[in-house]
Amino acid sequence: MEIRDELPEDREAVWQVEADAFGRPDEADLLAKLEPDKAFSLVATVGGEVVGHVLFTWLPISEHRALALAPLAVRPGAQGKGVGGELVRQGLARARALGVPAVVVLGDPAYYGRFGFAHDPKITQSYGWPDEAFQVVKYREIAGEAAYPQGFFL
Ligand SMILES: CC(C)(COP(=O)(O)OP(=O)(O)OC[C@H]1O[C@@H](n2cnc3c(N)ncnc32)[C@H](O)[C@@H]1OP(=O)(O)O)[C@@H](O)C(=O)NCCC(=O)NCCS
Repeated sequence: MEIRDELPEDREAVWQVEADAFGRPDEADLLAKLEPDKAFSLVATVGGEVVGHVLFTWLPISEHRALALAPLAVRPGAQGKGVGGELVRQGLARARALGVPAVVVLGDPAYYGRFGFAHDPKITQSYGWPDEAFQVVKYREIAGEAAYPQGFFL
């Protein structure tokens, strides 16, 4: 398996992986809406074929410039083999290298907890999401309210 930056020619394969993983086109269609806020996008390939994808978008937390991880997808036939985990770990390493203070995610704590994500009452959101699902990895001790890109709500 190789993890690398998404290239323009991966676009269709990435769309398909997102659609297949979620069993609906919503998350795949989200990618175009999030394009203006994209920080970086990674693909996982096996034998040159895209089997996984993760997008990181810029996300203000009050006055801080942080990142949001979403969406994350691994093609059904390739799940449970560590592809998702490698995408998250390499994505977080990249985020850290960029010098951001934090990365947030909305998702299952049973999955994201293993990468160091946890709910933190100092990082808030006003979208009505359950606290336990709204999680953060912090590289610096910041506090504030997360403002997700408009594209998430279109
Ligand atoms: C979630 C997803 C990205 C994980 O990718 P993956 O390559 O299968 O993950 P890994 O192989 O690295 O890790 C597998 C582990 O994650 C667990 N896992 C997978 N999806 C999970 C979920 N939704 N909640 C909790 N645990 C989950 C598996 O049970 C397995 O646990 P184990 O290591 O204890 O056996 C993938 O299953 C997927 O694309 N699912 C559909 C889309 C989705 O839900 N995306 C996340 C949105 S927040």
